[in-house]
Amino acid sequence: MYFSFETIPAVVCVFIATYIIYWIKKPRISKNEPPMVPYKFPIIGHTLDYLFNAENFLAECRQKYGDPFNIYVFGQVITLAGSEAAHEVYKHIDTFNLLSATRDTFPLHRVLKSFGDPETMEQVVKTIREGITAKLPLYTGRIQKKLMFSINKEIGDCSNPKLIRTANGDFSSLIARPVADVLVGQEISNNEDVIKAFANFIRDFTSILAIPPILSFIHPKVHTQVITLPLRFGWNPIGKHVITLKKYLKPVLEKRLRDKEIFGDKYEPPLDIIEYLLNKPEYETKVITDDYLNNICEFLFIFIVTSIHTTSRHLTSALYDFAGRPELWDDIYEEQVRIDKECNGELSPQHIDKMVKLDSFVRESFRNFGTVVAVPHRCLDESYTFKNGKTIPKGRIVQTYLMDIHYNTTAYGPEPKSFLPYHGLKNNFSASKTDKNYFTFGSGKRACPGRFFAVHEIKMGMHKIILNYHIKTPSGKIEKKIRYGTIGMPPVAGLIFENRKK
Ligand SMILES: *[C@@H]1O[C@H](CO)[C@@H](O)[C@H](O)[C@H]1NC(C)=O
Ligand SMILES: *[C@@H]1O[C@H](CO)[C@@H](O)[C@H](O)[C@H]1NC(C)=O
Repeated sequence: MYFSFETIPAVVCVFIATYIIYWIKKPRISKNEPPMVPYKFPIIGHTLDYLFNAENFLAECRQKYGDPFNIYVFGQVITLAGSEAAHEVYKHIDTFNLLSATRDTFPLHRVLKSFGDPETMEQVVKTIREGITAKLPLYTGRIQKKLMFSINKEIGDCSNPKLIRTANGDFSSLIARPVADVLVGQEISNNEDVIKAFANFIRDFTSILAIPPILSFIHPKVHTQVITLPLRFGWNPIGKHVITLKKYLKPVLEKRLRDKEIFGDKYEPPLDIIEYLLNKPEYETKVITDDYLNNICEFLFIFIVTSIHTTSRHLTSALYDFAGRPELWDDIYEEQVRIDKECNGELSPQHIDKMVKLDSFVRESFRNFGTVVAVPHRCLDESYTFKNGKTIPKGRIVQTYLMDIHYNTTAYGPEPKSFLPYHGLKNNFSASKTDKNYFTFGSGKRACPGRFFAVHEIKMGMHKIILNYHIKTPSGKIEKKIRYGTIGMPPVAGLIFENRKK
């Protein structure tokens, strides 16, 4: 290695800087905090274990130190709340705030300004409840058509077994089509540019998150500042998607306003979210200005962020779970065939409710998704004292130790990591029902409002795919899930589809 004279001062500087950071960043622990897991290296603390060995490392901590406990990662003390403490965090919604905790690591508000704004988020939740969940039965037929179209396009004819790669996008176009239909209506939901904008939006946004939060060692804000630097210099990885949506949405909105004027009371409002919004006082308008379009597109993209990517990842993961377990194929297939005959290929919500084995399987797949820790909340009160008497200070990030909740031995037996396909069925827990040992959709008042829609789509998608294809993994075995840090991802081996003989 070549050392120039210039490197020496640089090394000295780094050394001094490191020392200063260490000095400033010595974790401050208040009185009576949850136990702090000891660590060897200053500054680094538990960061490496947390990034590369979270499952085992945290399980050991949990066993030794109980629940909750503190660790030191990326220069910050964080508190982990598992099956005993997490429900307290989700119950006290004024004390613990999700959006305040995610702003630093997921700075979407830099490109969608109203993301995280409490009023907008309230509106999003309300729109999902009133505009989607309450109308779900009316959407079922349309979702089914879009899913079938998607399946034929993305998977297609597999008279010869076909390996489909899932690594790049996890069937997000498959989910994007029905979502587009519900959001922006039937006029443009066949438009492939719109579908692409929907399907790729989050992937393109997350390209800026690929930078590991090294600078958080100094302060989380420094990391946020640096990763969003390109955005502030005008680079916008998702700007093109917003432009696409605006371009196609404008004539649709204009035509609807015109039709409303022409037909008056005889106007037949289409069923979709843009129509729902047009009728809200907040979004009432006579002309579609550029500002108006920006507003409405921003609102729609907040939906897209929260719906397409997570749903498609969970669908993909469920397909892998199914493909790797031949012992379940016949049983679940038979249920789908029976329901398909009963409804003559046209699913209604009642038929979807009858897919109880599939539902139970999907729930189990969600439980085993593989995320160790996720969904941080920030403590906004001066301090919070857990039921066990341990206290955390204001500003503390409390992470949800999902795996501790999902692998709870009281709820799931002595081998909680084994796949229990009919656990939900036996215990009357549906896939969309939150429960103290099932936090896929969160818990309590702030549980994910889109869970009914998401489960609906995933069940319909799986039903149609299982009816039409045999699905195998390339290895013939259960494929290993991927993990980025503490976050689970579907496997990437690909799936082999083959037409079923009818
Ligand atoms: C399982 O979860 C319940 C709360 O849902 C909790 O009280 C219990 O301590 C947990 N069991 C174990 C072994 O962690
Ligand atoms: C199953 O749960 C649902 C609601 O979650 C309830 O309405 C129903 O009565 C339960 N059925 C049984 C057999 O307990």
